[in-house]
Amino acid sequence: MKRDQWGNRTVFVLAAIGSAAGLGNAWRFPYVVFKNGGGAYLIPYFVALITAGIPLIIMEFGLGQKQQQGAPGSLGKIRKKFEFFGWWPVISAFVIVSYYAGIMGWAWNYIADAFTGAWIGADAQNYFYNEVLQLSSGPGELGGFSYPILVGVIVTWILIYFILRKGTESVGKVVWFTVLSPIILLLVLIIRSVTLPGALAGINYYLQPDFSKLLNFQVWIDAYSQVFFTLSLGMGIMIAYASYMPEDSDVTNNALITVFANTGVSFMSGFAIFGTLGYMAQTQGVPIEEVATAGVGLAFVTYPNAINMLPGGPFVVGFFGIVFFLTLLTLGIDSAFSLVESNIAGFADKFAWGKQKITAVIIALLFVFGLVFSTKGGLYWLDIVDHYINSYGLIIGGILETIAVGWYYKPEKLRSYINPISEYKIGSWWNVMIKFVTPAILIYLLIRNFVADISVPYGNYSTSVQWIGGWGMIIAVALASYIISKSKSNNVLLEGGE
Ligand code: TRP
Repeated sequence: MKRDQWGNRTVFVLAAIGSAAGLGNAWRFPYVVFKNGGGAYLIPYFVALITAGIPLIIMEFGLGQKQQQGAPGSLGKIRKKFEFFGWWPVISAFVIVSYYAGIMGWAWNYIADAFTGAWIGADAQNYFYNEVLQLSSGPGELGGFSYPILVGVIVTWILIYFILRKGTESVGKVVWFTVLSPIILLLVLIIRSVTLPGALAGINYYLQPDFSKLLNFQVWIDAYSQVFFTLSLGMGIMIAYASYMPEDSDVTNNALITVFANTGVSFMSGFAIFGTLGYMAQTQGVPIEEVATAGVGLAFVTYPNAINMLPGGPFVVGFFGIVFFLTLLTLGIDSAFSLVESNIAGFADKFAWGKQKITAVIIALLFVFGLVFSTKGGLYWLDIVDHYINSYGLIIGGILETIAVGWYYKPEKLRSYINPISEYKIGSWWNVMIKFVTPAILIYLLIRNFVADISVPYGNYSTSVQWIGGWGMIIAVALASYIISKSKSNNVLLEGGE
């Protein structure tokens, strides 16, 4: 059976950009910049891009394209034992997307209720916690389903199924829409926000350089974690996507376009968010620090409340509300389906089942595993699983990949594959990055996360919750990766070794 291939190079790059540009760009990047020294943070951010992000994305693109397999097959072809190293990122991606769909489920509710008016002109905090989440008292009380979330999640999975069903053929059509529309929608939000009173003060706050922050070690740590996370690395995604390219396509150029487009989306989000927060701060007469937040609270409470303050009445508020939540959904959907595709590629390579059948089975499993995130206690579990999978799943995935390539496959071998087919040639500095610098940074991040979680358990959750949603979940990822890697493959390529 011939391997699925992208129709052309553009759709591959669009798909990679779509994966990289996700919720993190909109709700995390602006806040991290603001907190870490504004314009001065660009220094650690670009240093992290150059010493970790760009070398790793080149490695993932190069490896997938060379091996013509998803992450497990690509690493398994280096050494049979390393197939496990490839399942780890795939199973971590499985965990992430099981709750990512939940977040998208919330966003659908804001769109639907922009028409009913449930959060328009009302308190978004009350709407979010009491009507959408129907939040229970704690993780110990699941409290049954919150039906608004459940319906939103079902809508999300149906969409993802239809997008992925025909592999690169259907994805290649959809990415034009899911990558370009958030950019246009962000422009609409930026134009509205920068013309509001107080907006410039907000943007000034966002970007005003504070070089003294660069002396703070934590700022550098944040830059590295951020770059790694935002480029969707260590999840087997970029390997899977690149494996659908012809073996002689340009690697470095595609990688650089993906990186800079993703950074562009992040900056655009910063203008949209901080312009609006500046207006909100001025309207309420409070300092901007009080309204600047990140994550769930920013997207689902603070920003909708800011939209509620826009001049022009409920129609205008509803319009910008829809624009904002459509931005989140279109940013999120292509990140979500890329996480699923990492799984599809891994399983399709290994078991040589039809792709359509695999897609349906994986999505059904994801839906069932993710049901907990549609319960009234779901937010607590989402919070804890998100923390642990990002601190360990992702970072360990990156370490395993760089060890397999840096120490066994050898970077020089991959570089001599990449350079002849690429417009920009990478120097031997790249070998040093892949072999030493990137894994060293990742191992350092891992140890730091571990020490932090051991000394102060995450959130205010009990030990049993830390074990079930955190450590236990990570152990389950390891076990599942191990069992799948040991199970018998129908794929002759994988059985043979290199
Ligand atoms: N890179 C995307 C983002 O910034 C998607 C994403 C979110 C992601 N969490 C992830 C990718 C974890 C890989 C691993 O939102």
